[in-house]
Amino acid sequence: MQRAMMDGISDLPISVQFDFATGIFSPYADISERRMSDLKEMFYDQSVVAAAMALDNPIIYEIRYHPFLTSVSDMGLGVTRIFPGKVGDEYHMTKGHFHEQPNQPEIYFCVRGEGYLLLETRVGEFEAVRWLPGTITHIPPQWAHRVVNTGADILVFVASYHLAAGHDYAPILAHGFAQIVVEQDGAPALIPNPRRI
Ligand SMILES: [Fe+2]
Repeated sequence: MQRAMMDGISDLPISVQFDFATGIFSPYADISERRMSDLKEMFYDQSVVAAAMALDNPIIYEIRYHPFLTSVSDMGLGVTRIFPGKVGDEYHMTKGHFHEQPNQPEIYFCVRGEGYLLLETRVGEFEAVRWLPGTITHIPPQWAHRVVNTGADILVFVASYHLAAGHDYAPILAHGFAQIVVEQDGAPALIPNPRRI
């Protein structure tokens, strides 16, 4: 078999090294920051969002990516670090998305921190999975997914998916998930999304 190793394509095994202390692996191909301004429609308390954007537009989370392309396959590795904090009483979280392709699942692996994985279908089925270090969740095709950090520490999770899956943010931008995660009496609580009431 002819082994390709050009244009980012390699048919040879590749390893990267993950640091459990930091939640960072290397080498990685790309990194994305998600700041308050990138999630401004996602949090329900828009007055707090506007004030935070005007002040310092804080980083909510960051993702390091590496694509593994062979001549016949495409796997993506992503490691997300959600920094602890709240917007008003709503915990920091990822934007959340459906996959563009309706036959594409994903594996999420929580390695540090605590929180929830929110899952929802386009016809309104909803699940909130309590996440602790070591929780691994298979996200079936056609379930939107969002991770919420409810702890005082950074939440780190590893994602493995096909690059061809794509991201569809539009339904989440339009109406969010069925429930949001807020602090009530000093503890995380799931409540109905005010945007849908
Ligand atoms: Fe995904």
